[in-house]
Amino acid sequence: MSGKSFVEKELSAPSVFKDESKLSPDYVPPSLLHREEELRILARTFRSLAEAPGEASYRLILRGPIGSGKTALAKRFGSDFEAYVRKKKINFKYVHVNCREEGSFYGVLKNIIRRNFERGFPSRGYSSQELLSIFIEILDKNNLHVLLALDELEALIRKEGGDPLFSLTRLYEGRPPGSPQRLSLICIFREPECEEAFKLLDASTLSTLGHNTVKLEGYTSGQLKEILEYRVHEAFQENAVEPEALELAADLAGETGDARFAIELLWLGGKFADTARSPRLLPEHIRAAQMNIHPSLRREDLKLLSLHEKLLLLAVARALRLSQTAYLPIGDVEKEYSAVCEEYREKPRAHTQTWKYVKTLGMSGMMSTKISGKGQRGKTTLLGLYVSSERLEEELRRMLESKKHG
Ligand SMILES: Nc1ncnc2c1ncn2[C@@H]1O[C@H](COP(=O)(O)OP(=O)(O)OP(=O)(O)O)[C@@H](O)[C@H]1O
Ligand SMILES: [Mg+2]
Repeated sequence: MSGKSFVEKELSAPSVFKDESKLSPDYVPPSLLHREEELRILARTFRSLAEAPGEASYRLILRGPIGSGKTALAKRFGSDFEAYVRKKKINFKYVHVNCREEGSFYGVLKNIIRRNFERGFPSRGYSSQELLSIFIEILDKNNLHVLLALDELEALIRKEGGDPLFSLTRLYEGRPPGSPQRLSLICIFREPECEEAFKLLDASTLSTLGHNTVKLEGYTSGQLKEILEYRVHEAFQENAVEPEALELAADLAGETGDARFAIELLWLGGKFADTARSPRLLPEHIRAAQMNIHPSLRREDLKLLSLHEKLLLLAVARALRLSQTAYLPIGDVEKEYSAVCEEYREKPRAHTQTWKYVKTLGMSGMMSTKISGKGQRGKTTLLGLYVSSERLEEELRRMLESKKHG
C-alpha cells in the first residue's frame, strides 16, 4: 500500500490549471483587450485631476451590458491612474464600491469610510447626510483627492431615487469659493436595467453627471476568442487548452457578448477536465460546463418567466440556500413562496396553480423535481436546483427589484 492518503493523491494529481485564481471574478488582468479606446476616454476625462487637483470635480458615466467589462475597465483604469497620480506626489486614491452589494447609500458611505480610512468606524448612529460630511472631512483632513466608482448604481437609484447622486454632485455648493473639490465620480450602469433608473433621475441630476459617457458594446466571438487566449495563457498550463475548446467557448458566449460567461465556461471546463483526469481541456468539457451554467441561469430564459414563476423559483433558491440541503419538500417551498410574495406585495397563487408552475419549471430544466422515497410518510414532491442557489437568487432578485420599487 502506498503511504499517500486518498485526499493527498487527489491533490497531487496533475491539473490543467497553472493559476486558477487568475480566472476569479475579482481578478483584474493587467491589460484589457479591445478596450483601448475606452481607456483613452477615461484618461482624457480625468487627466486634470493629475494636473490641477481640487480645481474641479469630474464625472463620467460608464454603461454596457452584462459581462462587457465595465467593472474590469473601471478598476484597471483606477489602479493605473492612481499609480500615475501618486508619482506626482499628489495624495490620491481610487475607491470602487458596488452599490447593489452595499444595499443602500448609507451602506455605501459606511463601507467607503471603513475599508479605506477608519476600520473601527461605528456602524450605526449617523444619517447618510452626516456620513457624507464625515467622508468629506476625512478628505479635507488628509488633503486627499478621491476618484469614486459607483458600480451597479442602478440598484441604488431604484431603491433611493436620485437623492444620493444629488448629494454627491452638489457637495461643494454653499462652501466658501475656492474650496478644493476632492471627489470625482465614475458612475457605472448595467444595460438595459439602467433605463428604468434613469427615469427616476431628474434632468438636472442627470446633467450634473456630465456629458462624458462611455458606452461599451458586448464583445464579438472574435474578440472573445482573443480575450480567452490571453486569459488562458495566465491561468492554464501551456497547451492544456485545445484551440477548438477555446473557440467553442468564445462562440457560445459570443451570442450575448458576455466575457464573464466565456471565462466561467473555461474555468468550469477546466474543472471537468481535471475531474476526468484529462491532460487537456477539450470541447466536450466546455459543453459539459455549458450544460451546468447555461440552461438554468440564462438571463434571457429567466426573463421570459412569468412574475409568479420567478417568485416561486426565487423561493426555491432561497429555501435551499437557507436549509443547505439538496432537496426540499414542496410544502416548505410553498411557505417560502408566500413570504416572497409578501415581500414583493403580490398575492400568492393557489396550490393547484403553484403545482403547475413547478411542473413547467421542472420540464424546462430550471429546477429538478423528484418524488420522495420510501421511509417518509406518504409521498411528496421534492424540489432542487442544478445551479448555485445563491447566484440564481441574486439574478432573480435583480430582475424583480424593479417590480418591488416601481
Ligand atoms: N477586455 C477584456 N480583456 C480581458 N478580460 C476581460 C475583458 N473584459 C472583461 N473581461 C473579464 O470578463 C469578466 C467580466 O467582466 P466585468 O466583470 O468587468 O463585466 P461587467 O460589465 O462589469 O459585468 P456586470 O454587468 O455583470 O457587472 C471579468 O472576469 C473580466 O476580468
Ligand atoms: Mg460589473
